[in-house]
Amino acid sequence: MTAARVRVALVPPAPGTLPPEACAVAIDVLRATTTLAVARRNGAAAIVPFATTGEALALRARLRDTLACGERDGRIVEGFDLGNSPMEFTRERVSGKTLAFASTNGSRALLAAARCRRKLLGSFATLSATVDALRDEPDIWLVCAGKLGRFALEDAACAGTITAQLQAAGAGPANEEARLALTLACATADEVHAIVTGSEHGRWLATLGDPFAADVEFCATVDKLDACFGW
Ligand code: MLT
Repeated sequence: MTAARVRVALVPPAPGTLPPEACAVAIDVLRATTTLAVARRNGAAAIVPFATTGEALALRARLRDTLACGERDGRIVEGFDLGNSPMEFTRERVSGKTLAFASTNGSRALLAAARCRRKLLGSFATLSATVDALRDEPDIWLVCAGKLGRFALEDAACAGTITAQLQAAGAGPANEEARLALTLACATADEVHAIVTGSEHGRWLATLGDPFAADVEFCATVDKLDACFGW
């Protein structure tokens, strides 16, 4: 059997440009894909990503049972129903709802995978379940959200950790970014915690206040959720 190919994008390519035949994993550890996994675990029916907040509001206006959610500068957008904290997306709030989601970076990673055959939400909170979900996939793209078009350490480390665990199962890194991400792979939960809380975005979020610092702690914890979710 041909070894599975794992490719990584350290920043999101343009919307819809990842190959349709691939299984894509969008990775925005802080905080979008961690938050959206919680939302799916709590029964959110669908996630529709948008680059702009106006598009999210427009979908809410058109579609019943739709919530506008996401952030700008880390905070809830005026007029939105929810921000981007995993703590907000409770079963009471999101069960059965469509999420019109507009965040700064996470949305771009989801949009890059728009045409892919299978689309998964990747994070450290769902690490083991995500690796399990990928074991039989022949063609994998791990797309990191980054930060404003720049490299983000926590996302690359998550991509590297997934690649390392898949490599142990026979898969191979199939581009330079995957090989680079492998050098950031975490072997322990403590390493994950140190990288995420010490990252530029992690430290910045913590300056916004206690609720944001609590979000960083949540996102820095391995396997908080025992399932992997798609959109
Ligand atoms: C993003 O999508 O840019 C991030 O998730 C922002 C944030 O931490 O809220």
